[in-house]
Amino acid sequence: MATRFLLRYSASERTNHWLIVLFFLGAGLSGLAFFHPSLFFLSGLFGGGTWARILHPFMGVLMAASFIGMFVRLWRHNVLNEADREWVAHSADMLRGDKASMPPVGRYNAGQKGIFWVMALSLLVLVVTGFMFWQPWFANAFPILLRRIAVLLHAASATALIFSVIIHIYAAIWVKGTIRAMTRGTVTEGWARQNHALWHREMTGKQ
Ligand code: HEM
Repeated sequence: MATRFLLRYSASERTNHWLIVLFFLGAGLSGLAFFHPSLFFLSGLFGGGTWARILHPFMGVLMAASFIGMFVRLWRHNVLNEADREWVAHSADMLRGDKASMPPVGRYNAGQKGIFWVMALSLLVLVVTGFMFWQPWFANAFPILLRRIAVLLHAASATALIFSVIIHIYAAIWVKGTIRAMTRGTVTEGWARQNHALWHREMTGKQ
């Protein structure tokens, strides 16, 4: 029997996602260059320290702005509900590779939803704090103590974002057949039935 596919992301959603990735890499690698002297060599990717410093905040703002596009489209699907509590209670089974004992989930599971909110919150904190010490335009509007706190929060939320993206990529590779959702836009019916049974039912009307 021929494999049947379900549409998970439209072309514009995929473009939106890969733009976020592009700006994440730009803002992330230039930001890491200022994080520790041992990472300063990364500034070479942007044409040296001065260019990395000039470009970093713009790439950060573009990353957050593109995330808003994704957020507006997907936040409703990421609201945690009662069924997610049960999924979390069974998450050890999944880590052991026993997917059959997992309760059925909708378009996203609780882990994906959690990552989504960590990404959204850390991006919000990164943008707000970033403006607070963005020289020479905005920083002077804020007292020095506030700017120092902003620098700390900026580094902490960048760390949270980077870790959440690492987990996000790991999960996308680990659950076979997921990457194609963001490259071709479709997933197989089998993938949907096995990993997102309620979404599969919603999309196909099948029990
Ligand atoms: C090379 C890096 C990345 C890869 C390979 C990747 C891959 C994927 C894949 C395969 C999906 C579809 C998952 C599904 O529908 O079940 C997805 C969804 C998503 N990705 Fe990525 N991603 C990457 C980086 C990022 C980054 C940097 C961000 C944001 C900072 C991001 C944000 C999202 C969001 C918000 C979704 C929708 C999931 C949800 O709403 O819960 N991704 N990604």
